[in-house]
Amino acid sequence: MKDYSGAAKADPSPAVPSGESISAVFTDHEAATSPAPEAFDGLYPMIFKRRSFHTFPGGRSLSAGELEEIEAFTSRIRPLTPGTRVAFKIVPREKTNCKRGQYCVLFYSEKNEYYLYNAGYMMEQLDLWLTARDIGVCWYGFGRTREKRIDGLSFVIMLAIEKAEPGDFRKDYRESARKPTGEIFEGTDYREVVEVAKYAPSACNTQPWLVHSEPGRLLVSRILGSRGSIPARLLSFYNKIDVGIFLLFIELGLRHGGRAPEIRLLSDADEGKENQVAEFCVPKCVDETLVVHRII
Ligand SMILES: Cc1cc2nc3c(=O)[nH]c(=O)nc-3n(C[C@H](O)[C@H](O)[C@H](O)COP(=O)(O)O)c2cc1C
Repeated sequence: MKDYSGAAKADPSPAVPSGESISAVFTDHEAATSPAPEAFDGLYPMIFKRRSFHTFPGGRSLSAGELEEIEAFTSRIRPLTPGTRVAFKIVPREKTNCKRGQYCVLFYSEKNEYYLYNAGYMMEQLDLWLTARDIGVCWYGFGRTREKRIDGLSFVIMLAIEKAEPGDFRKDYRESARKPTGEIFEGTDYREVVEVAKYAPSACNTQPWLVHSEPGRLLVSRILGSRGSIPARLLSFYNKIDVGIFLLFIELGLRHGGRAPEIRLLSDADEGKENQVAEFCVPKCVDETLVVHRII
């Protein structure tokens, strides 16, 4: 834990002098034990409250205490791929090319199979957790920092964050533009889970996912669809992060319904218009198919 003694004790003054890095967390993020990972506590309802702060209202600052809590939470975030080395670093926005927010949370990772899905899955837990504390968030896909590597890990993506007010968040999640469920869902079961999970954020709102369901099983595919303003060469990068976020939303939805799923990652492939990425087995299915927890 870093020394925050020079930091502000209360709003509105900034917690650290501009330009100074304040936090780095290195961890192997071992998988939390089932059934209910502590990191998921209180996250599900935040799906309905969160939104992207493309602009922040301004005028409020994060306190030193809040920054310490954020840092502490980053070490509890549950990975999609246990064993992948990752780091979170909180820096003043001015340390990046980001033009909004007070701070940026930078995510670093080793580059192994599924690391982009893991980035989406882990950073979105932080998005939801911050939302619960009235801290506004915007994923910033085009964000860059001069510190491209720390401790052998590569910079992947960042979130811009700033303190906000409860009234700054979403009042009715259904007003946010998303594809009709029929366009992203085929099958028989868990439609209600997908109805909610489809509100996952995605770069340029591309929503590159498709779900096929049957009793006891959900298959999630990454699809190549519209790419908004994303350059073609970067599409796979963003789409994989997006699908990692979507996997988290599906898992939160199943857990909210009392079903602790097992997730099996299937393919990190880039070829074709549709790639099956992950399979969720809900408890009944686990007994039948002997799916081992989080095989990758
Ligand atoms: C991986 C990723 C990258 C994103 N990059 C940016 C960005 O660079 N600038 C921005 O304003 N919004 C960015 N967004 C936010 C999306 O535009 C937003 O999630 C989407 O439009 C849906 O809106 P909502 O998050 O308010 O539900 C990004 C989102 C994700 C998941």
